[in-house]
Amino acid sequence: MTQNPAYKDAWFTPFSRLMLLTILIQAAIVYTSCRLIWRVIRQSRSPLANLAGPPSPSWLFGNVPQLFNSNGWDFHYGILKSYGTAMTIQGALGERLFLTCDPKALHHILVKDQLIYEPFVSRGSVFFGKGLLSTLGEQHKRQRKMLNPVFSINHMREMIPLFYEVTNRLRSVLKKKLDKGSQEIDILHWSGRTALELIGQGGMGYSFDSLTDDHDYHPYRTAVKNFVPLITGPLFFFIGQFIFPLAEKFDFPRVKRFIAQLIPLQRSRNLMHVLDVMYQTSLDIIKEKKKALMSSDPAVVAEMASKKDIISILMRANMLASEEDRLTDEEVIGQVRTLVFAGMDTTSSALARILWLLAQHPEVQEKLRGEIREAQNNGQLSYDQLVSLPYLDAVCRETLRVYPPVNLAATRTVRKDTVLPFSKPVLDSAGKEVTEVFLRNGTNVIISVLGANTNPDIWGPDSYEWKPERWQSPLPESVPDAHMPGVYSHVMTFLGGGRACLGFKFSQLEMKVVLSVLLASFRFSDSKPVVWKMSNIATPAVEGGDGESRELPLLMSLVD
Ligand code: HEM
Ligand SMILES: *[C@@H]1O[C@H](CO)[C@@H](O)[C@H](O)[C@H]1NC(C)=O
Repeated sequence: MTQNPAYKDAWFTPFSRLMLLTILIQAAIVYTSCRLIWRVIRQSRSPLANLAGPPSPSWLFGNVPQLFNSNGWDFHYGILKSYGTAMTIQGALGERLFLTCDPKALHHILVKDQLIYEPFVSRGSVFFGKGLLSTLGEQHKRQRKMLNPVFSINHMREMIPLFYEVTNRLRSVLKKKLDKGSQEIDILHWSGRTALELIGQGGMGYSFDSLTDDHDYHPYRTAVKNFVPLITGPLFFFIGQFIFPLAEKFDFPRVKRFIAQLIPLQRSRNLMHVLDVMYQTSLDIIKEKKKALMSSDPAVVAEMASKKDIISILMRANMLASEEDRLTDEEVIGQVRTLVFAGMDTTSSALARILWLLAQHPEVQEKLRGEIREAQNNGQLSYDQLVSLPYLDAVCRETLRVYPPVNLAATRTVRKDTVLPFSKPVLDSAGKEVTEVFLRNGTNVIISVLGANTNPDIWGPDSYEWKPERWQSPLPESVPDAHMPGVYSHVMTFLGGGRACLGFKFSQLEMKVVLSVLLASFRFSDSKPVVWKMSNIATPAVEGGDGESRELPLLMSLVD
């Protein structure tokens, strides 16, 4: 389509731009008001009103500012202690949300009735296109069917050399820094870059970062690093709830873009830039692979056939798949964008958390180093050795249990009136025991991963404490008896059911490779007091810092 430039210029005078913006805003206000009035009427009669829950500081915002506060730990531990495993939380404008970590309820939400509990995908689809995190129903099932085999143990095993290659580069650069003795190093900076390079190499056979000096990295790194802060916070929760479903309905990229460009906020411009970089990079990666797959040069084809990264395996399988199973190009690009997002900050947060804990617990660090070095006697650890080191496993499990990187799993919306049963009764607002709750079509449900992982009824009175040793003796009966529906280790860190984390084995393995390499060479100790921020993904910051920057300074020294 060609446009007459003169016509275009006239159309875009500042005045017409302002007019358009005003009309759009008015339309949005009318639409939103109608929706709001309808909601308020409905919510005032919600059956959830009988359930107990924290008092709400305001009708306008409810508990949302506390729920999604980056310093919300006390609020979260507090409500779990006061109201137990199922409660009502006040949302915006009188909405009643339902929050739970009851194992039976979670089983219904994530496994048994998973089709009734729809994840909140419009946000993901605006950000990552049609990848796993943003599709529903049959489309999601079809994508999962194609991707599940790609994450099999056999493929993970083959990824080990890629993981070592990246981690050895990390070790070299850190070693060079410590040439002249011990130093304070921002571990989050390096765990983030390493996690991106690992998902780059393991996920799509692409290098984002040579990991050689402090600044030499791909624009993607800066883009994704800025992404989570841009979309975090109560304000964003509201935008997500009201604007994105609208954006989904008008699924014309040009219209969306046009509306987005009209928004006069710097934050929205930044976000668009970030999304552009993310999209363009994914597109380049796929184009290149596709060219190799279709190439007439047998050498290029043979090289493509030997590639062990996730997207290459997927693209090869996709060529052979039947018409109805096959993913479109847009869907494959969607997977690249989704994998980088899902695999980077989560793993980098978990790695940073483990190193921080080891710095706080030098005796655990020494014991772990001992186990690793003894096993390493004859060089790099193989896949089987890595997964069978008991103390390394215990440290990873315990950290992911007490400190899950994702504390509140994405909301689910109930799509049909339904009754949700509990495994343990909770007290309602009148002090009476209730064993189930009636959820009306449209109710938003929030899963507390933190609550599920640290429930004292399941893990015992020391459930909140970080004790790797608990994994070295048989777990209490109450743990298996709870039937927590998580895919990993009786906890909900990677969720469960048909939308559980696909990368949990991948991330286990990369954490173990990185820890085994780093701990054999370096010692980590405390440097400055650090607080962990409860953003969508938990991240560390220096206590008393500027409130914005995320970092984890630790004192590092060479072991020998
Ligand atoms: C410690 C690291 C990680 C944690 C804690 C984590 C956690 C999660 C959680 C909680 C979900 C569910 C989100 C929801 O539906 O509400 C999820 C989904 C997902 N994760 Fe992970 N993840 C981690 C690492 C990874 C890695 C390394 C990859 C990729 C290699 C990955 C790929 C995915 C994908 C593809 C999904 C979407 C699955 C679907 O909707 O079908 N994750 N992850
Ligand atoms: C639930 O509500 C939506 C509209 O909010 C409606 O489209 C849908 O049909 C309802 N589901 C059932 C099972 O009634």
